[in-house]
Amino acid sequence: MMSLLNGKFAVITGAASLRGIGRKTAVRFAEEGARVAILDLDETAAQAAAAALPGGGHLGLACNVADHAACAAAAQAVLAAFGRVDILVNNAGITQPLKLMDITPDNYTAVTDVSLRGTLNMSQALVPAMRSGGGGSIICLSSVSAQRGGGIFGGPHYSAAKAGVLGLAKAMARELGADNIRVNSITPGLIQTDITAGKLTDEMRADILKGIPLNRLGDAEDVANACVFLGSGLSAYLTGITLDVNGGMLIH
Ligand SMILES: NC(=O)c1ccc[n+]([C@@H]2O[C@H](COP(=O)([O-])OP(=O)(O)OC[C@H]3O[C@@H](n4cnc5c(N)ncnc54)[C@H](O)[C@@H]3O)[C@@H](O)[C@H]2O)c1
Repeated sequence: MMSLLNGKFAVITGAASLRGIGRKTAVRFAEEGARVAILDLDETAAQAAAAALPGGGHLGLACNVADHAACAAAAQAVLAAFGRVDILVNNAGITQPLKLMDITPDNYTAVTDVSLRGTLNMSQALVPAMRSGGGGSIICLSSVSAQRGGGIFGGPHYSAAKAGVLGLAKAMARELGADNIRVNSITPGLIQTDITAGKLTDEMRADILKGIPLNRLGDAEDVANACVFLGSGLSAYLTGITLDVNGGMLIH
């Protein structure tokens, strides 16, 4: 067991999904010595995910990141248990494979509320504690879809939400640097999780693979390891960056 995150306290949103990026990030953080609070929609699932992490003292809480008050309440509960928070991973997100003209107002709200509003809500909820604690690292999950205008799985509203996350993260990095709070984004390519809800066909998968120099889809662990890097002191002089984890799918 390494210890890149020894003594650190982390909050990860959307981290209950068994094969998800958030869940794998929680596991990697715990392996590196962090204590982790898993926030997700369902309390039982969040608690079960926290209980399954290596080491002890982890926390599982219900929190809909789209709900400002729920984020504030979750932050208070985490701080009551941990006393401080050093790392926030804004990971919760949903996607929908829709074409432009098929996006309803409800679709737009659903997708942007989780990724974009959720990132703002949870960051606002934890920045005061990071400030008084002397600093922190906020990691925001965007997507290659933000950079290349979709074309992977999610629709234009997903690209817009994820591009919004990049802008929000960069603005937060600028504002929070003086508080020693670093804010960075990760833009994963296609990662094999359940976010596509069985709607990714073998044909789509084969097409996507043709454009990936490393010739494989990503695993949750590929992104989780990038989160360990951005959460740890290894990235102490990095803020406002966008870290591509895409196998070379987008080289720029
Ligand atoms: N899988 C990919 O190919 C890929 C690519 C680029 C970016 N991403 C992004 O990475 C992040 C994680 O994706 P994943 O593939 O692990 O997804 P996933 O579906 O496996 O997990 C997402 C988790 O978020 C939770 N969640 C959904 N809405 C929520 C809300 N309102 N409040 C709190 N939690 C909520 C879900 O319950 C689930 O546990 C997302 O932001 C996603 O957009 C994924």
